[in-house]
Amino acid sequence: MNSAQSGATDLGAREMVEPVAASPTKKWDLFEELATTEHEKIVICHEPSVGLRAVICIHSTLLGPANGGVRMYPYPSTEEAVRDGLRLSEAMTYKWSAAGENRGGGKAVIIGDPATAKSEALLRAFGRFVDQLRGEYYVGEDVGITLDDMQTIHLETDYVATLPVEAGGLGDIAPQTASGVLYAMRACAERVWGTRDLAGRTVALQGLGACGSAALGQLLEAGAKAVVTDLDQNRVEAAVRELGVEAVEPAEIYEAPVDIFGPFAMGGVINADTIPRLRAKVVAGSANNMFAEEGDALALEERGIVYAPDFIANAGGAIFDAEQFRKGGFNADRVGKRLALIEDRVKEVFEIAKRDGITCQAAAHVLAERRLSALWQLRSKHG
Ligand code: NAI
Repeated sequence: MNSAQSGATDLGAREMVEPVAASPTKKWDLFEELATTEHEKIVICHEPSVGLRAVICIHSTLLGPANGGVRMYPYPSTEEAVRDGLRLSEAMTYKWSAAGENRGGGKAVIIGDPATAKSEALLRAFGRFVDQLRGEYYVGEDVGITLDDMQTIHLETDYVATLPVEAGGLGDIAPQTASGVLYAMRACAERVWGTRDLAGRTVALQGLGACGSAALGQLLEAGAKAVVTDLDQNRVEAAVRELGVEAVEPAEIYEAPVDIFGPFAMGGVINADTIPRLRAKVVAGSANNMFAEEGDALALEERGIVYAPDFIANAGGAIFDAEQFRKGGFNADRVGKRLALIEDRVKEVFEIAKRDGITCQAAAHVLAERRLSALWQLRSKHG
């Protein structure tokens, strides 16, 4: 194992941004890149006999062991893979902190096409690297990795956070992610319409995958109406046929005459092109990094649209998964209460934004950093 370590320093404010594409002119250098970050540890996982090229990024273990998914993706370059891992692991630190969980920020990336390059040997080789960290990093699933793959990784290490129910894990976390998003929608609804009740509200759902389809069911149960879209026509047709919801083409979802716009697909969908087209008064969904650019949060607010910051709204699945590591083990009542706290947290973000005269997205970072800096001071003083 080759591991490059950079010492843990102050956890200062760093904005979560979309991955920066490889520079076409300047030659990229791993150590120069690491010098620009505050990550505690980067582990290069290289096992040529099975084609494994991966990076485990540990941003911070201040709150607890690093915990985050492993993503398998055909990154065009090592630079892009490393940058994605660094950015995603840092985002996990903020998500855990804001959610009040005792887990640290970590994430791993495997370079390769999951459709063609994934094998049992590759996953097991990766699992061995995770195991060598002896609990400094717990691995979950992410893009390109399935619950079955997690069982394969589990053959080599016990430091696995996400497993299917039949393997003793908690299974799919998307329904809890969706449930958390509904709490976030309620906080936004109360601010705009003076009531948290979603009954009678119309919601545009962009994406009917694991989270979007779960949110759709929960919204209909809460008495809301839905307009849906997905690139996958089969998913749209099934929702229309089975649930009687209205559907629009993917490009038309932004202009749908709805109360709430729910991004449940890709990041970057709230941008200079889409903000002027939105007719909703509220934006809340599960998509990570929903803003394309830093200025988009302000642009949305200038249109009078209330939104729930993404890493606060979509933390429900993470909160559910982390419950197994709480003292006393998994407790369904406690996790239910912790999910409901997302509503309070979004309201707290509104208050911080008002108090400090900043955007809600910036206020979400203030909320996350408050806890981190208090614990950092404690660690600096007492070790
Ligand atoms: P998924 O892969 O199950 O579903 C995504 C769906 O979006 C797919 O049906 C896809 O066809 C559709 N889609 C993609 N681009 C689209 C577009 N332009 N217009 C309309 N539909 C489009 O993914 P999942 O797990 O539901 O995640 C959705 C989002 O929520 C992602 O951004 C993910 O990072 C985020 N998230 C998911 C969590 C989870 O518990 N699964 C937890 C936290 C965040």
